[in-house]
Amino acid sequence: MIICISQNRIVSLNRRITKQKMAPVVSGFSKLSKEEKIKWLAEHHFYNDKKATNTLITYWNSDEKLQQLHDEFTENTISNYYLPFSVAPNFLINGERYTLPMTIEESSVVAAASKAAKFWQTRGGFSAEVISTTKVGQVHFTYSGDSNALFQFFEIIKPQLLASVSSITKNMEKRGGGVKDIELRDKTADIQNYYQLHCTFETVDAMGANFINSCLEQFAKTLLTEAKKYHDFSDSEKEMEIIMSILSNYVPECLVKASVSCAIEELPNTEQLSSLQYAEKFVRAVQIAEVEPYRAVTHNKGIMNGIDAVVLATGNDFRAIEAGAHAYAARNGKYASLTHAEIKEGRFIFSIEIPLALGTVGGLTSLHPLVKLALQLLGKPNSKKLMEITAVAGLAQNFAALNSLITTGIQQGHMKMHLMNILNQFEASETEKQQLVEYFKTHTVTHSEVVAQIEKLRGLY
Ligand code: MEV
Repeated sequence: MIICISQNRIVSLNRRITKQKMAPVVSGFSKLSKEEKIKWLAEHHFYNDKKATNTLITYWNSDEKLQQLHDEFTENTISNYYLPFSVAPNFLINGERYTLPMTIEESSVVAAASKAAKFWQTRGGFSAEVISTTKVGQVHFTYSGDSNALFQFFEIIKPQLLASVSSITKNMEKRGGGVKDIELRDKTADIQNYYQLHCTFETVDAMGANFINSCLEQFAKTLLTEAKKYHDFSDSEKEMEIIMSILSNYVPECLVKASVSCAIEELPNTEQLSSLQYAEKFVRAVQIAEVEPYRAVTHNKGIMNGIDAVVLATGNDFRAIEAGAHAYAARNGKYASLTHAEIKEGRFIFSIEIPLALGTVGGLTSLHPLVKLALQLLGKPNSKKLMEITAVAGLAQNFAALNSLITTGIQQGHMKMHLMNILNQFEASETEKQQLVEYFKTHTVTHSEVVAQIEKLRGLY
C-alpha cells in the first residue's frame, strides 16, 4: 500500500505534534520585562507564530504612561483585554436622570437596559433606597478550653481589641465609618473548638476590603496577645490558634431595594396579551423563579447582566458582588429570585432587593481613567447612590428579559446581535452587512444560514 502525504500536510502534522509539547517550568518569570515574557510565550506556546505575538502587541496602548498604568494593575501583564464600554441612557431614578455606564461583552444587554429605562421613564421611573450598609469580617480561631471562660475573657478584652485598631480606623472614623461591633460566636456545634470574632464595619464610600482585613488581622494579633496574658486561663487555654482573618462577601446587611410600579393599563397592550394578561403573566414568570431553582439561576443571571456591567464599569469587584448576591438569593435555604412582582389595587409592582457592597473611592476608582469617567457620567455618586443605581440596572435588565420571554421570546432580539457578531467574525463589508441585515429581516438567523448567505454573496458556492 502506498500512502501519499503532501509536503504541506507533513508540515501541519509536525506543527500539531510540536504543539503538544509541554512548556518547560520557568522561574523568575515575573521578573522578566514584558517583551521578554512575550518572547518566552512565543517560544514555548506560540511556536514563534508571529501572528500571536503581533496580536498581543496590537493591543498595547500607544500612550506609554497609560499602558504602564494598566500594566501595573496586576502581575505578569503582557497586553490589554478590551471589553466594550457602553452606555444606557434615559434612566430616571428617584427623580434624577442618569446615563448608565455598562461594561459587558454580551450582545443585547445594553439594548435591553436602554429599552427598559425608556419604558419606565414615562411611568414615574425607578425608586431606589439603601436599607443598610453594614459589612462583615471574621477572625476564625480554635480554643480548646471552657467556653464560659472564653466569653468572660472576651468581654474584658473587647475594649483592647477596639483600641488596638485605632490607628487603622482613625481616617475612616473621620469620614463617619469604622468598626461597629465585635461579637464572639461559639461555633463548636459545627466544628470542635471553633469560635469566631464576628465583626461588623461601616466603610462609607469605600468598598473597604483593605480596611476590614487590616482591622481583622490586628484583632487576631490582639486576641492572641491578650489570651497569653490572661491570668484566668490555664496554659492550654492560652493556646488559641488563629485559623484565618478575612472579610465576608456575604453582606445581607448591606442591602438596597429598587422598584417600579404603574397602573395596569400603562403596561403593554397587544393583540396577543391585554395589559392585565401581561401583568399576570409577568407576575407568574417571577413566581416561577421564586419557587424553581433551575429557573431562578437563569433569572438572576439576567439580573447580574445589568449589575455586573455597572459594577465593572465603575471599577468594583464583580466577583464579590456575584458571590454575595447569589448567597443572598439562597438565604432561606432554597435558591430563589432576587426580584418580586405583584398586582395590588390595580397596580403592577416590580422590585429587587439585593446586597451590594460597592465603593466610589479607593481601589480602581481613582486609577482607571474609564472608571473615573464612568463615575463622572453618574455625577460622582457616593456609594449609597451607586448601590441604588446598580440595583436599578439589575431590575431594568430583569424587566427587559421577562418582557421578551413572556411575549416574543428571547431569541428575536438576541439573533439580531448574533447576526452582527457572525458578520464581524467573517469581516463582512458595510455593503455585505446591509444586504444581509435586510435578508434576515424575513429569514431566521442561524449560524449556518448566515454563513451560507455570506458565501453566496461572495460567490463562494
Ligand atoms: C441571558 O444572558 C439572560 C436571560 O437568560 C435572563 C432570563 O432568562 O431571565 C435572558
